[in-house]
Amino acid sequence: MNLAIFLSFFLLALLSEAIVEDFCVADYSLPNGPAGYSCKDPAKVTFEDFVYSGLGVPGNTSNIYSSAVTPAFSSEFPAFNGLGLAMARLDIAVGGVVNVGKTTALAFVTLNSAKPGLQFIDDSLFAGNLPSWLVEKTMLLDPDQVQKLKRAFGGTA
Ligand SMILES: *[C@@H]1O[C@H](CO)[C@@H](O)[C@H](O)[C@H]1NC(C)=O
Repeated sequence: MNLAIFLSFFLLALLSEAIVEDFCVADYSLPNGPAGYSCKDPAKVTFEDFVYSGLGVPGNTSNIYSSAVTPAFSSEFPAFNGLGLAMARLDIAVGGVVNVGKTTALAFVTLNSAKPGLQFIDDSLFAGNLPSWLVEKTMLLDPDQVQKLKRAFGGTA
């Protein structure tokens, strides 16, 4: 009987430990490691740590893409820390990359990575000093088109 009670307490202790480790709210004041930010002391975690309103704010679409990406990664939303996921809001103005409609398009994306990378192909190809002949060959573009794009994105000819 005593052993059963002891085992019950032991299991309860293990379970409560598991519950505590269900979240790891980021503490930006502590050093972070390869697995993410350090966990905020669970005793100091509040309701507000699980609320993020940044995705409710339209991004600034006054740029060459006429669109904006507003991230909700663990660096913006501490409750995502350690969960291996992230979200983002996409605002695409009329005439933006894929918006042929009459109003700004809005999308929300969920990504199964804590720190997903974001790569703008146009910047990679046309904003740097990649040789024009290489861009022409790989993208099957005419020299004039490559020069036009390099001027638009600030790359060297
Ligand atoms: C949006 O971005 C443009 C270009 O960077 C800038 O001139 C403008 O002030 C920004 N607008 C707002 C509301 O932040």
